[in-house]
Amino acid sequence: MIKSSQQASRITCHYALHALVCFGLVLPACCQQPFQTLLVGVDHRSVTSLDGDWHYLVDQSPGRALYKANGEINDSSYALNSHPNIVGEHNEEYDFSTAPTLKVPGDWNTQVPQLFNYEGVVWYQRDFNADSKPGTRTFLHIGAANYRSHVWVNQKRVCDHEGGYTPFDCEVTDVIHNGSNFVVIAVDATRLVDGIPSVGFDWFNYGGLTRDVFLVNVPAAFIDDYDVHLAHGPRFDPENTEVTGYVHVLGAPPGVSVTVDIPEAGARVTAKTGADGNAPFSVKASKLTLWSPDSPKLYNVILTSGDDKLTDNIGFRDVRVDGTRILLNGKAIFLQGVNMHAENPIRGGRTSSDEDVATTFSYLKDMNANFVRLAHYPHDERMERTADRQGIMIWSEIPNWQHISFDKPEVYAKAVVMLKEMIRRDRNKASVILWSVSNETPNNPTRTRFLTGLANQARALDQTRLITSAILGPKPNGLERVVDDPLCNALDVIGQNEYVGWYESKPEDADNITWKFPQKPVLMSEFGAEAKFGNHGAINQRWTEEQQVNVFQHQFVMFNKIPQLRGTIPWVLTDFRSPTRNIPKLQDGYNRKGLISERGEKKQAFRLFQKAYEDHTIGKAE
Ligand code: GCU
Repeated sequence: MIKSSQQASRITCHYALHALVCFGLVLPACCQQPFQTLLVGVDHRSVTSLDGDWHYLVDQSPGRALYKANGEINDSSYALNSHPNIVGEHNEEYDFSTAPTLKVPGDWNTQVPQLFNYEGVVWYQRDFNADSKPGTRTFLHIGAANYRSHVWVNQKRVCDHEGGYTPFDCEVTDVIHNGSNFVVIAVDATRLVDGIPSVGFDWFNYGGLTRDVFLVNVPAAFIDDYDVHLAHGPRFDPENTEVTGYVHVLGAPPGVSVTVDIPEAGARVTAKTGADGNAPFSVKASKLTLWSPDSPKLYNVILTSGDDKLTDNIGFRDVRVDGTRILLNGKAIFLQGVNMHAENPIRGGRTSSDEDVATTFSYLKDMNANFVRLAHYPHDERMERTADRQGIMIWSEIPNWQHISFDKPEVYAKAVVMLKEMIRRDRNKASVILWSVSNETPNNPTRTRFLTGLANQARALDQTRLITSAILGPKPNGLERVVDDPLCNALDVIGQNEYVGWYESKPEDADNITWKFPQKPVLMSEFGAEAKFGNHGAINQRWTEEQQVNVFQHQFVMFNKIPQLRGTIPWVLTDFRSPTRNIPKLQDGYNRKGLISERGEKKQAFRLFQKAYEDHTIGKAE
């Protein structure tokens, strides 16, 4: 794609706008565009779903319908949704009304065989009816669109977004009318060197409107953001039943009342908005059952302000680090986890439905896991909602995967927006205990500065969770592995990736390897080996299930010698599609490190973890 200075300035302006708007600060003149934000708890509002069949048109590279020659966005092509004069004077050469359809939510790759490997621009269009009461505001909510998207309603551009895994909301109040309207969205899945992730990543680049799309109608002044959590003092106090946080009412003048009501906990408080529309609050609950995997207690939390009311289901828990221990509600815990991608086992394609998520959780429960790392990007919000209900703890991450343009300020700005979007969407999810800023990035000062900045941003945004990152293994020094990556200084918990027995060394070498870590809790955030389901052979025969089990068994020996190990997260729950995995008959486009095949078949290694996690034979909580 041609990138002009004007477009570069527009994108930076967009991020500046986005960052500024998201956090209610003044708008620089250059950015006078429709309002764009991220509505918290939107899945708990009554909405008009726009999921279903959308017409689509493919705009092959260079995407001449979307990008003008100077790289600017073309507002007067397909966005106009006009129709060709089949007879008479020549006009347009496109027509959504007779075009085929794609299901939303969903990636286009697994819906249309010709688009399986397509990474470019696809235009989506559908009509919709609006019925909004006068004086109210209406937003178009997009759960996620991979990778860059531009949105028009009734021919007016209402927002642009970059990032394939976080939601955004575009105001359409001034461009819709009651009755029939139409929306056109151009989604460009082209990888960008300055993208997050960048161009070479080990998962399938599913394109499209991959998560729910709906219309949200709210009062003129409404609750767009809130934070409701157990007060987090310097030490955990089991008697502590103070619930605190804030409620932000967008469009509210100072002095507007906001009520936070948690009937079952006997907590109710009214607070007032300040000049910035924010109403901080604190209230003692008469009784509070803390959330944990054994008792994933959620409370109805009713937020009201003026004509607006929203009820969320929130759990209250305290997670913190104490030396090399991770404490949940004051008790040391060991995270029995697994990594996973947001790819539906069996059906394939991006996870996007309750059924998809239910399948995944059945695997997690069957495996006796109490924790899951959502690699390497924020997953569908259904994952966090289900984890909240089922008591599974979560590691959530933004896709700073391996090589990112760490030297570019505009890339840092993108990362900050993605971090803020991730935290804003899930800050009220008790299941989320860790925010991760990256995975396997090269250890150099520019990268460390970039990621340390992000870690500090995350800590400033959320003091109630732990900050982590998955780091690369240190250069082997004989049988000793000394972890001295300076990024660890910025982390509360260290995630260590290593592939002893697969990418390096022999499986049995792990028995004699020792690790030296900084005095912080450590999670083995990736380890494993490839095996094709049904491929059997000797324990040292690579690609067999027996060899995969053998690699893991030697890992356990190594792990049980690491005093500050507080969790294990094998790579990976299920085999997943990756364009870099091309050994015919063994990989066929799949990374085969799954404990389960892409058809849901459980390999021997799944049983190994099922037993080890049941018997708690790996590692110790303290
Ligand atoms: C890396 C990386 C994963 C990748 C895995 C593998 O560690 O973080 O994204 O899929 O190794 O090579 O299988």
